[in-house]
Amino acid sequence: MPTSTQSIREIVMQHPSSAKVFLRFDIDQCLQADLSLEGACQALQLSVDQVLEKLADAEIQEGGFIALDPATLSLARLAQHIVRVHHHCVRQELPRLASMASTLAAKGGDRAAELAKVAELIAKLHAEMYAHIQKEEQVLFPFISQMDQESIIAYPPAHACFRSVSHPIFMMEQEHESADHIVADLIRMTNHFESPSWACETHLALFSGLRDFEADLKQHVHLENDVLFPRAIQLETELKARS
Ligand SMILES: [Fe+2]
Ligand SMILES: [Fe+2]
Repeated sequence: MPTSTQSIREIVMQHPSSAKVFLRFDIDQCLQADLSLEGACQALQLSVDQVLEKLADAEIQEGGFIALDPATLSLARLAQHIVRVHHHCVRQELPRLASMASTLAAKGGDRAAELAKVAELIAKLHAEMYAHIQKEEQVLFPFISQMDQESIIAYPPAHACFRSVSHPIFMMEQEHESADHIVADLIRMTNHFESPSWACETHLALFSGLRDFEADLKQHVHLENDVLFPRAIQLETELKARS
């Protein structure tokens, strides 16, 4: 992530997606190359926080992921990153993979029953994950973001519909486990997403897509279970102790 003390030159070299952000804010990459981001923002009367936020957004949009250090992100930004990258992947990939598996199963052949089962498992994963991310986006993440942003003002945040953040977190962790079981079944059914020698292009694309989705889901669940959720519980404990 770029920082306010880095020079414009350093940021452009390390983060290519920053060029269009600087252009939008009229920060001149040549004339202001040696200035720190903070200095360039001061000269143009810009908010350095706003520019840093746009730089992070551009990096996420461009790469689909960022080599982020979750410890340095606020809880609100981390939740936003999870939605933009990993929830987007759920919405984009699972319907596509389910459709490919159904097409393959409908073709018939020796492996049709197995592929029908694969299609069934992907559809189940899609239904569960879709409902899961809706709950996170509509209830839990806004709660965590509000708790994070209003941490100095009051706790619990307005409109809280549960007594402790640990309750919905527990439910989300249970749902992660359920998704994990479905993925384990898929791995077993597909021999670790290993395509048979006779596989057609759709078959190859399906298994490669499943392999990528499994990797993305691992990272998604890791960021929630091991970073976002423990930090949210910790923040709640601190806020309760203060109030
Ligand atoms: Fe999620
Ligand atoms: Fe989740």
